[in-house]
Amino acid sequence: MAHLLSVDPFDRHAVERLFAVARGAEPVARRRKVCRALEGAVLGNLFFEASTRTRISFAAAFCRLGGSVCDTTGFTFSSMAKGESIQDTSRVISGYVDALVVRHPERGAVAQFAQATNIPVVNGGDGPGEHPSQALLDLYTIGNEFARLGKRLDGAHVALIGDLKHGRTVHSLIKLLSLYRGLRFTLIAPAGLEMPAELCEAVGARDHHIETRQVLRQPLKDLDVAYATRIQRERFTGEQPEGYTADFRVDKAFLDECCGETTVLMHPLPRDSTAGANDLSTDLDADPRLAIFRQSDSGVAVRMAIFATLLGAERQLQGPLRDVTWRTPSAIGPNDACSDMPSASIGA
Ligand code: NCD
Repeated sequence: MAHLLSVDPFDRHAVERLFAVARGAEPVARRRKVCRALEGAVLGNLFFEASTRTRISFAAAFCRLGGSVCDTTGFTFSSMAKGESIQDTSRVISGYVDALVVRHPERGAVAQFAQATNIPVVNGGDGPGEHPSQALLDLYTIGNEFARLGKRLDGAHVALIGDLKHGRTVHSLIKLLSLYRGLRFTLIAPAGLEMPAELCEAVGARDHHIETRQVLRQPLKDLDVAYATRIQRERFTGEQPEGYTADFRVDKAFLDECCGETTVLMHPLPRDSTAGANDLSTDLDADPRLAIFRQSDSGVAVRMAIFATLLGAERQLQGPLRDVTWRTPSAIGPNDACSDMPSASIGA
């Protein structure tokens, strides 16, 4: 793997290999152990679009591997505001750093960064295109949740909910999930924001079953995963989605009435908490089925695995690691039942 631009090159084997590295990274990501595998290495974190968790979790992952991070956010303070090309920016920054993470509002722009350099480039989200590291951490989270629940991914029922047209996380995730066997997908989007037809065709061609709906509040039989997403208004080009009403809110009533006791509820975050947003509600925050913070926590180990793999340092995560020398909380958040390391295999 020279770059991580898309999930397309992954097969089940490659996914499992990466997740094995991520499991080795867990004690470091969870602040039990210290690792210096990338001591001396520098990451360039270039975010030309809004981000909180992706930028910080990539940076934290690189730092926890012993490396350092240089970053820039937005176009305003970058030389692109002076008309510099992607190619020049990429080549210049590659003279300073050992790996690049790039987020950009245009589909395909991160691949252009990769073409202009020999250092590894990770796609941190290219417009409505892909978000491969998010999909990998989503699948890793599903594997951890299923291992705890004694479920398997083959044959699972997964609902993807919200803006499936512009949501790059679901574009990458449905491709990754389709590597497994006999899944049932229920795709629930307001009219006008449906999953692109070419993605549905590619998934259907792998013998998965797809059902599409424009209404959220209907029973979802034997649902294993409900994956909600934000409506991406910043990417609208004239769309006026009808049907994106309060009925589309993913809340406790929806989970209790339409999903099951063991449905895992996920969201890539951020959830839009402004009035009328109808996104994932906060009335679920104490519900153990809500996996959103276990999901975001897992991002660090998965991103450590991505860097270690791209830079050929995987083996150093297997060796004996030093204990941390500072005090860390036993659970990270007040609603966390347990923030301990997932110990089971991915079970996917
Ligand atoms: C998503 C993104 O930026 O694509 N967030 C993330 O990276 N976790 C989802 C979103 O913006 O809605």
